[in-house]
Amino acid sequence: MENICIDDKWIFRRGFVDSLGMLNEDPGVEVNLPHDGMIGTEVEAAAPAKSDSGYFVGGLTNYTKYVDIPKEWENESVGLKFDGAMMNVTVDINGCKVGSQHYGYAPFYVDLTDYVTFGETNRITINCNTSMYVNSRWYTGSGLYRGVMLCHGPKVNIVPDGVFVRTKEVSDGYAFLEAEVEIRNSTTENRLAKVTVSICEEGSDDVLSSSGRVIQINAGKVQKADIAINLKDPKLWDVEHPNLYKVIARVESIGTYRTHIISEKAEAFDISETLFGVRTITADALRGLRINGETVKLKGGCLHHDNGLLGAVSLYEAEARKVKKLKETGFNAIRTAHNPPSAALVEACDRLGMYIFDEAFDAWGIAKRGGDYSQFFDNDWEKDLTAFIRRDRNHPSVIIWSTGNEIPERGGLNDGYAIATKLADTIKKLDGTRPVSNGICSLWSGLDDELMKGQSQMQNSSEGLINTSWETITEPFTNGLDIVGYNYMEELYERDHELFPERVMLGSENFPKEIGFRWPLVERLPYVIGDFTWTAWDYLGEAGIGKAAYIEDENDPVVKSNGWALMPSAGSPYPWRCANDADYDILGHLMPQGAYRSVVWGNEKTYLFTLHPEYFGKIEVMTMWGFPAITPTWNYKGWENKPVRLVVFSKAEEVEVFVNGKSIGRKPVNMERPMPNSAYFDTEYAPGKVEAVSYAGGKEVSRDILVTTGEPARIRLIPEKKTAKADGHDLIYVGIEITDNEGNVVPCGELKINAEVSGCAVLAGFGSGNPKTEDNYTDGESESFRGRAMAILRSGYSKGKVILKVSADGLDSVQEDFELDSQYKNDSDDIPQFTIGNMAYLDQ
Ligand code: GAL
Repeated sequence: MENICIDDKWIFRRGFVDSLGMLNEDPGVEVNLPHDGMIGTEVEAAAPAKSDSGYFVGGLTNYTKYVDIPKEWENESVGLKFDGAMMNVTVDINGCKVGSQHYGYAPFYVDLTDYVTFGETNRITINCNTSMYVNSRWYTGSGLYRGVMLCHGPKVNIVPDGVFVRTKEVSDGYAFLEAEVEIRNSTTENRLAKVTVSICEEGSDDVLSSSGRVIQINAGKVQKADIAINLKDPKLWDVEHPNLYKVIARVESIGTYRTHIISEKAEAFDISETLFGVRTITADALRGLRINGETVKLKGGCLHHDNGLLGAVSLYEAEARKVKKLKETGFNAIRTAHNPPSAALVEACDRLGMYIFDEAFDAWGIAKRGGDYSQFFDNDWEKDLTAFIRRDRNHPSVIIWSTGNEIPERGGLNDGYAIATKLADTIKKLDGTRPVSNGICSLWSGLDDELMKGQSQMQNSSEGLINTSWETITEPFTNGLDIVGYNYMEELYERDHELFPERVMLGSENFPKEIGFRWPLVERLPYVIGDFTWTAWDYLGEAGIGKAAYIEDENDPVVKSNGWALMPSAGSPYPWRCANDADYDILGHLMPQGAYRSVVWGNEKTYLFTLHPEYFGKIEVMTMWGFPAITPTWNYKGWENKPVRLVVFSKAEEVEVFVNGKSIGRKPVNMERPMPNSAYFDTEYAPGKVEAVSYAGGKEVSRDILVTTGEPARIRLIPEKKTAKADGHDLIYVGIEITDNEGNVVPCGELKINAEVSGCAVLAGFGSGNPKTEDNYTDGESESFRGRAMAILRSGYSKGKVILKVSADGLDSVQEDFELDSQYKNDSDDIPQFTIGNMAYLDQ
């Protein structure tokens, strides 16, 4: 089927709009997809989902587009392909309901063939409903946040996501591949079809290998062609060498039994192009996870699906930027917490080299929130899981499937053990090449009332669980899992290895600040294949779960509660918006926590931070997902000669710190809990310069410097690129810094700022990384946070100039010009953002 991107010019309205309402209601506004109907709304202290949603309210959103369906398609199949739509969606055409979908993250296809009027303009209307509060534990966004494709092709066609290529073996200079192509025959007679698969290197049309067969597909049925195909001298895919191939599947309908024998003439053909990579995966307790026969430890981070200022909108550029930055600090894996990611993210991981722990669900039948997916799980899980696996199974970056996260059924309630096995089996039938996992946590929930009584005591033990009840209770739940995901239970690795010597374990979710003393364990234990932090990138919702406080009185309730009091059960108060627990903030700035992790993973840079003198000598209390409140700052006006703490992260043996050129000490880097690879220095604050130098074998390895800056004097724009494609999908990220006269970022420069965009792009997002804000990221008004902010420009569909103007209180405004050049639909040399399927743009 040809996939035509129809993301431009939709009419967006709020509320539910039926056919009658369409005539009477407001005219709506024109938007381009992907679009998030929630991110531009105001946050409210009274939002029903409170901190879960980051105080966004949600509601009903409605999208309409008028599409010309050509007369020439009259004998074809026509449909709409969604990569996900948030959520409880109905799809209408010309007023007739043709499809619906509950789960907001699963891809789905709606067949329109019997409902479209060929040779006419057809009205497509989609209603989305995120108002069944509380429907998620985090910010979901709302609407058509992953775009829409219009598909058409002959009646004997390749089913959407119906091509699958897997690597059976790589040896003797060949990759032995197995391809399957699923073909639907929507005619009323049995047909024969010639099915061919050809392999080219990605970006080339030279066919390296080709193979095929003829099969019969009965009327109204789907039939699979299994085709063996070999590839000489394959370039294998891994994160360091993200070599990609494309498979071109071609299906020619060659008639019925009788006509086929008389003449083997093609009546019609369908074509589908799919990216894939050649690589093998195995996992065992002796050699761990092996990619292409080499053992790999996963340096992982959990990611939610939102893109910060853009809300839930997923665009290749935003996802690729994230992946590139994560790679820079040593990540080689992400976990798509806790749902199917966008196709754009998966493609970015394929192209740039990042392993994915690809997750299906956060809830099964037992709810975590009253309005969540648990309501639909019983009826929908198989359909949604299947669509997800089929979409992602060609992607080499996907190396582990996960059936869920912290599923309450882990204790066996709600027939949980049987469901767990059923889900794993369903995946294996669709793809037998990847291990299946599930992120299992301790039993703070998930047991019946009687068993629950004993659990809280065990949980409170500082040694973790005091007996093996967790293992006993969850063992049947792990049936079908090739890798058991341990959420926050590193203490159990060695003990559980004694109990289950063949079990492959993964730290599927862990506390960010603990990586220093947890990672050596991952390296030492062959059966533990990696560690995923919660989280790698900050996200909207679950607001304020990462916090640190500095308290004088040891009897203070926060100290007494060991940090739990910082996380009230009602959630962090308004206007907390982001989780504040990540290695990167929502703008993509590396946080001290991320610097620390990179050092633990081998980065030889020195990182110097300070703790505000106000906190000196106080008791540090953190939430489980918190990190010390250190910053890369040496601006403490009014605190001159007061004691201050300096914190250095370093992989070296020793660190020395100089304040205004004078050494204040040289000491070995601490290698003990709670923070190996760090050193602390206490001194008195004196404005000027502070420097930390790392030494190994007595020689300097690296250094870091902080200076006291002057007052805010200028605005500096840092565009990440100067040109973009006029394809409606490209983004230009522009960093904004408030600097002094010397060009130093003023870390306390918190000024009111404004942004305006004119020309062929729009301001898609504007704001700061402040996790606590009432900002509307779409209105061009914000406040810099620690001297920084960000503007994100999104291209329209016409070529030309774009001007961004930024102003700040008391400073001269600045502007920057950009150029939107190649228009994707006219430019055959361009790499399309999605090579999944044959994508084109609709000329109208
Ligand atoms: C975990 C959960 C995550 C997130 C995290 C922080 O237990 O799996 O989704 O909620 O806690 O609160």
